[in-house]
Amino acid sequence: MKYYGVFGNPIAHSKSPLIHRLFAEQTGQKISYEPLLAPLDGFAAAVADFFNTGSGANVTVPFKEQAFALADQLSPRAQRAKAVNTFKKLADGSLLGDNTDGAGLVNDLLNNHVSMTDKSILILGAGGAVRGILEPLLAQNPAEVCIVNRTVEKAEQLAKEFADLGSMTACGYDWIDAPVDIIINGTSASLSGDLPPLADTLVKAGDTVCYDMMYGKQTTVFNQWAQQQGAARTLDGLGMLVEQAAEAFYLWTGVRPDSAAVLKELRGQL
Ligand code: ATR
Repeated sequence: MKYYGVFGNPIAHSKSPLIHRLFAEQTGQKISYEPLLAPLDGFAAAVADFFNTGSGANVTVPFKEQAFALADQLSPRAQRAKAVNTFKKLADGSLLGDNTDGAGLVNDLLNNHVSMTDKSILILGAGGAVRGILEPLLAQNPAEVCIVNRTVEKAEQLAKEFADLGSMTACGYDWIDAPVDIIINGTSASLSGDLPPLADTLVKAGDTVCYDMMYGKQTTVFNQWAQQQGAARTLDGLGMLVEQAAEAFYLWTGVRPDSAAVLKELRGQL
């Protein structure tokens, strides 16, 4: 038996234990995967304790930046994200820090037959969630990526930091109105049921794909807006959640689970 888990605070409502249990059942891997509540001021000690026996762990809010600082080695995508959502214990006992969030988003879009290559992409938000997806997204070679944020300086900082990986620009919400191919909502606005101040002309009816990194039982406020504008497709972040887990499971076990079956089961339980 190998031991895995997910660190967070709070963590009781995390869907990761269910997702990984379903992956393990599907693939015949003998693993245990538990929620791991770490004290807000005791993350490092909780990680050290867990890895006496543990083989790998996921990390969620609010510990991804602390996990980045704790890792002995970092994957290139974690290095860029400056955040770690997956630890793997290596043979020499050291901890590899990886970030599978961006791969989760990209794989979910690809599963839905949405190609990012040569597309114009608008990203809403410039916080940690957006930083985590930029490297894998830019690796798909979009024509251009524009980061829009209320606080424009944060968007400018991110665009500058990732400019070596592709065509990046930054702007404020009232500067943009030309239609784009893909809009990704990476703001935390949906959490409070808010909608960023978007121009109606950004969506080209029947053509633009809109992706909300949040999800819920009901269609998110952003996706409701997108549907009203006539977006060709609206997708939410449940697929990204399952795909980031699939990527972590693969890193740990070398086996790729059937994520579509697990997504279907999770969707049914929302
Ligand atoms: P996370 O880790 O989820 O990215 P964060 O780092 O606090 O959280 O970032 C939240 C992002 O959502 C920010 O880009 C924030 O914009 P500001 O940087 O201008 O604060 C954005 N955001 C939150 N609420 C928003 C709202 N109601 N409208 C537009 N953007 C919002």
